[in-house]
Amino acid sequence: MAAKGLEGVVVGQSRLSWIDGANGELIYGGYDIDDLARNTTFEEVCYLLWNGALPNQQQLDELSREIAAQRRLRPEILEMIRAFPGDADPMAVLRTVTSALGMYDPNADDNSEPELRRKAILLTAQLPTATAAYDRIRRGLEPVEPRDELGTAANFLYMLNGEEANETRIRTMDVALVLHAEHGMNASTFAARVTAGTLSDVYSAITSAIGTLKGPSHGGANVEVMNMLREIDESGTSPKEWVREALGSGRRVMGFGHRVYKATDPRATVLRELADKIMAEAGETRWLDLSDQIRTVMGEEMEAKGKKIYPNVDFFSASVYTTLGIEMDLFTAVFAMARTPGWTAHLFEQYANNRLIRPEAEYVGPRGLRVKPIAER
Ligand code: ACO
Repeated sequence: MAAKGLEGVVVGQSRLSWIDGANGELIYGGYDIDDLARNTTFEEVCYLLWNGALPNQQQLDELSREIAAQRRLRPEILEMIRAFPGDADPMAVLRTVTSALGMYDPNADDNSEPELRRKAILLTAQLPTATAAYDRIRRGLEPVEPRDELGTAANFLYMLNGEEANETRIRTMDVALVLHAEHGMNASTFAARVTAGTLSDVYSAITSAIGTLKGPSHGGANVEVMNMLREIDESGTSPKEWVREALGSGRRVMGFGHRVYKATDPRATVLRELADKIMAEAGETRWLDLSDQIRTVMGEEMEAKGKKIYPNVDFFSASVYTTLGIEMDLFTAVFAMARTPGWTAHLFEQYANNRLIRPEAEYVGPRGLRVKPIAER
């Protein structure tokens, strides 16, 4: 029997993260996500994923310097971004930039450990710059040069807006990056590993991953959540009525449900707390109030149907990013930037212990047919 959607199939071993879907727990390299979200930065998590241990101060400073040193886009890439259509999907931009970066790397096909590490740092450093540059260019503004002394979260908000964000905003962005950095054998990570499994290069593998994350059943759901919040807000119907109508007509409520979690996604719990703080500071709690009402009615509806459908990471990230002033269609690109350390850490594992990933299909087509001459078909 085919395992539809590969549900429950274990395709390999990994030391990077573990999800207890029944109890809503997630760990990266042995550390609970809640602990990491409260007490580490994105750079510390990058180090953890790439090295298997949290850094000391000196190791963190060195990695932060290495990332900062790789942030500037080469002129050819910037020119390419300027030539893209102004209404391109930012995920298509990142997919194309990642692929193009490989063409400018003379060592693109070298999958040795030092080269993998160099490319992991390069892509983690460049995707935020490419995202911010594209957003500014399409708004008719000049891209903002990255600043070496800022961390990834602070620098990204700075490159988007041209001014430094306050501490609450920077910390919120940083925690969002930490929460999205790694998540087991999800669809985009699997796509990256399948590509690396053929001994293709890191740029090709991350291009595959970005194309996979783009879909609304995966990373693209955060955009759909914001579309839904706006639709409800503008419709004049109550969230309760809207959700009931949506479910009644067979629609899925975006930001709910997960292949692995059959409890609330622990990342959603952390984001809900962050949302409270940042929205109170911004004096705009509309999206959070709406989200809470949707969560309540979904809870009632799913319980009545006996379904274990709870909020996932995308549910609150949508309103958090909106409050941070990030354009709605950039949400999935922000997810991709954050997930780059996780994807590349999986590539380290894949290349270190590779075997071609090549499952089979259960054949359900006809047999024994004979080719007729074309005039008789
Ligand atoms: N709203 C309403 N019902 C849902 C939802 C939802 N969001 N998600 C699942 N269900 C129902 C399905 O209708 C199905 O019901 P049935 O058994 O009566 O037919 C049942 O729950 C199981 O659904 P499947 O599609 O089999 O679950 P699967 O594990 O394949 O799907 C997925 C997981 C794609 C995430 C799904 O829950 C979904 O479409 N959610 C909305 C999109 C979303 O938020 N995606 C982000 C996921 S997190 C991430 O990738 C970062």
